[in-house]
Amino acid sequence: MENILVTGGLGYIGSHTVVELIENGYQPVIIDNLSNTKIDVLERIERITGKKTPFYREDVRNIEKLQQIMTEHDINGVIHFAAYKAVGESVEEPLKYYDNNIGGLITLVSAMEKKGIRSIVFSSSCTVYGEPDVSPVNENSPIKKASSPYGNTKQIGEEILSDCPFLNTIALRYFNPIGAHPSGLIGELPLGVPNNLVPFITQTAIGLRSELTVFGDDYNTKDGTCIRDYIHVVDLAKAHVKAVDYIKQHPDKQFDVFNIGTGNGFTVLEIIKTFEEVNQVKLNYTIGNRRAGDVEKVWANTDKAKNVLEWEAHLTLEDMVRTSWYWQKSLATQP
Ligand code: UFG
Repeated sequence: MENILVTGGLGYIGSHTVVELIENGYQPVIIDNLSNTKIDVLERIERITGKKTPFYREDVRNIEKLQQIMTEHDINGVIHFAAYKAVGESVEEPLKYYDNNIGGLITLVSAMEKKGIRSIVFSSSCTVYGEPDVSPVNENSPIKKASSPYGNTKQIGEEILSDCPFLNTIALRYFNPIGAHPSGLIGELPLGVPNNLVPFITQTAIGLRSELTVFGDDYNTKDGTCIRDYIHVVDLAKAHVKAVDYIKQHPDKQFDVFNIGTGNGFTVLEIIKTFEEVNQVKLNYTIGNRRAGDVEKVWANTDKAKNVLEWEAHLTLEDMVRTSWYWQKSLATQP
């Protein structure tokens, strides 16, 4: 049995990945400081998988505790999700982001080095491409100057890992994860007003928010709204299992990076229309001003993930918006 330490394993992408790890014969061990999720997620993972998962309420910046857990569970590899991810907040509080996202990574890797653990999968982001000159972007597309401290932590994180020859690293550059587990038991738990499009859509549809503002319709796209590559969180979770498998099979490879998207771009208005059609609900929305810092269009070339990791996305935009809505409705019935 391979024991995988999953930092941030009760978060949105982390919890779905823990489920996939268990379903593929791995033993995850979760650490999470619960800064952006709830402890109930642990029991929900157990309901989905029928398995108990070891959990520690800990911060990745606690090196003693990390080493203790690594020894106790005979950890063979790490998937590192634990990080802050709100772009706007990172502009307001940059040091909070550098401390947690960079300080946390350095602490984690130091603990790995001390314990002789080499395998790490790192959560990176398509934000490293900034506003690309052309889409789809592949892994050799230029890295643009980060437009926020959050984005910078992802660029620096990749650089730190690629500078550590004692590691076998895979950095996954996520595009826009949406959707939820089909069970309706786990999904995204945005605290406060959501920053991201789909949680805002579902909260508006259920009446928690009065209206959605579409941030600008004067971009150079087919309907004037921004284009993103939305990917189902379950497909994204499966990419992590493939990455762990790949590292196991290629122990001599030091560092590699993969785009994790579907390869398709959709506009904001297409997402709204698909959400309304698939779920048969009417969404109250208006067109507003552009949001500062938004990229006009970006979507992935996913050939490398397909050819090298043997991973590709299978779930459709319909699956994404249906499960997002199912999750929002099931949240409404929770205590
Ligand atoms: N949008 C709206 N209204 C909203 C929220 C979003 O119109 O209320 C639009 C945005 O302007 C954008 C699209 O929906 O065009 C997607 O926005 P999100 O905030 O959902 O996602 P982003 O692409 O801006 O950000 C995501 C991640 C970041 C990451 C970035 C990389 O949330 O962590 O992708 O490009 F840095």
